[in-house]
Amino acid sequence: MNAAPPEFRLVAPDPAAMRALGERLGRAAAAGDVIALTGPLGAGKTELARGIARGLGVVGPVASPTFVLLSEHEGRLPLFHLDCYRLAGPEEALAAGLLDERGADGVTVVEWAERLGPALPTGRLEIRLAGSGDHARTLACRATDPRHHRLLEALA
Ligand SMILES: Nc1ncnc2c1ncn2[C@@H]1O[C@H](COP(=O)(O)OP(=O)(O)OP(=O)(O)O)[C@@H](O)[C@H]1O
Ligand SMILES: [Mg+2]
Repeated sequence: MNAAPPEFRLVAPDPAAMRALGERLGRAAAAGDVIALTGPLGAGKTELARGIARGLGVVGPVASPTFVLLSEHEGRLPLFHLDCYRLAGPEEALAAGLLDERGADGVTVVEWAERLGPALPTGRLEIRLAGSGDHARTLACRATDPRHHRLLEALA
């Protein structure tokens, strides 16, 4: 039997700590990497994405692309930042071509990744965020394939 890959847990006590974790991911990320973020409203997904952007050398603001669904930022590698909150269903993601072949040339970060359903790439780093308000956030991290283990190691 294949055991599920082990989860690696972290705590981010404040937004700056969240960005610092993201920055480590951004520095370690390679073209084609996919980082899937899940967790309820306000869990810190965008804050983590901001850190990833900083680690990729993106200058300029990074906001939740809730209404545009996808925003692209120029860095050491391009950052493709998706927010699937408003997706009606995975079919819509496919129809919109949100995850197209350009993903191979950059780093893809997906907020509300579970809403992509089968359109979510199978090889990815998954981060489940929990916590709200002024409280610390927890991050449960798991790589689904060997290439994304690199990113787990960057967090360790
Ligand atoms: N580790 C943390 N500790 C405390 N507050 C945090 C932490 N991380 C983020 N926050 C704060 O929580 C608020 C919501 O964060 P953020 O916008 O990143 O959440 P989100 O998961 O992207 O939400 P949404 O689902 O609405 O896009 C922000 O004010 C942010 O600064
Ligand atoms: Mg967000």
